[in-house]
Amino acid sequence: MLLLAIESSCDDTSVAILKDGIPLSNVVSSQMVHENYGGVVPEMASREHQKNIVLVAQMALKQANAHKSQIDAIAFTRGPGLLGSLMVGISFAKGLSLGLNRPLIAVNHIEAHILSLLIDQRKPSFPFICLVVSGGHTMIVLVRDWNKMEVLGGTKDDAVGEAFDKCAKLLGLGYPGGKQIDDLAKTGNPAAFKFPVGQMPDYQFSYSGVKTSFLYFLKEKGESFIAENLNDVCASLQFALLKPLLAKTTQAMAEFNIKNLGVAGGVAANSALRNSLHELAKKKTWELYIPDFQYCTDNAAMIGRAAMFKWEMKDFVELNVSAEPRFKIGQ
Ligand code: KG4
Ligand code: ZN
Repeated sequence: MLLLAIESSCDDTSVAILKDGIPLSNVVSSQMVHENYGGVVPEMASREHQKNIVLVAQMALKQANAHKSQIDAIAFTRGPGLLGSLMVGISFAKGLSLGLNRPLIAVNHIEAHILSLLIDQRKPSFPFICLVVSGGHTMIVLVRDWNKMEVLGGTKDDAVGEAFDKCAKLLGLGYPGGKQIDDLAKTGNPAAFKFPVGQMPDYQFSYSGVKTSFLYFLKEKGESFIAENLNDVCASLQFALLKPLLAKTTQAMAEFNIKNLGVAGGVAANSALRNSLHELAKKKTWELYIPDFQYCTDNAAMIGRAAMFKWEMKDFVELNVSAEPRFKIGQ
């Protein structure tokens, strides 16, 4: 079974070809235009998707050594995401579906991040707890099966990746700045400074306050102090951002008595988060699963992997399907 999958929910245009659920290609074109603005500009994102999508699809087919006539179904991200960006992917999917006379499969972007854990050979068995951490999402999900996911809690405001990026912008680092903070933090002292992160009940998170306190901290200390102590500042900030994630993940694993833990989304690439989770897993005898980096950040292979379950159930959508910018898990 050959599947063409499309991801265009934010600022990455991606197309993947999967054979029986295994990626043969996974082409991602990341948009650079947003760098100058320190964040994604929605209108520019949809225009970039329009420019790139045909080329990205051609490359994905070429790398998979496949021809479009061999495709059995087309999967796309229905949401959540930016409306204009989603619409480019959906329109392209509909065009292919109509032209090739093949069924359409609609996929939830967050469910796909979670199911990306099933791409690698070493994969968790159900049930597992999944920590979803990206530029747009921060949540803890109890995954009982591919179509039985319960969101235990999430952020009430900013996502953790967004907090990384906004603080990186305040430091004058590039966009997205999560990776730069991660790199600089490697040689810093995480206990050098204290940054308050919102205390929230249950499995909720709040990351909007930290950037304001970080801004005041930068103003108070002054440029030269920050430059001299940049590694310690990054390590301390990162410590503060990761602390609630680690605490609430531990809480969920204990409450539901689960031993399998998955991490998905772009922030899963963070080395301190990975190290801390590896240590915790060893101590608590959890099995830890983190997808290969190319499947952590936004990519179409994860959309294809999630779509395979729907293909098996013949869960197709009609050509009049619409984008759902606020698409909920399990909707
Ligand atoms: O999953 P993703 O590609 O896009 C969204 O769906 O949002 O995640 C992108 C996010 C950005 O906020 C980026 O700064 C963050 O992942 N990120 C990192 C690291 N690598 C990417 N954050 C912290 N440390 C990293 N190494
Ligand atoms: Zn994502």
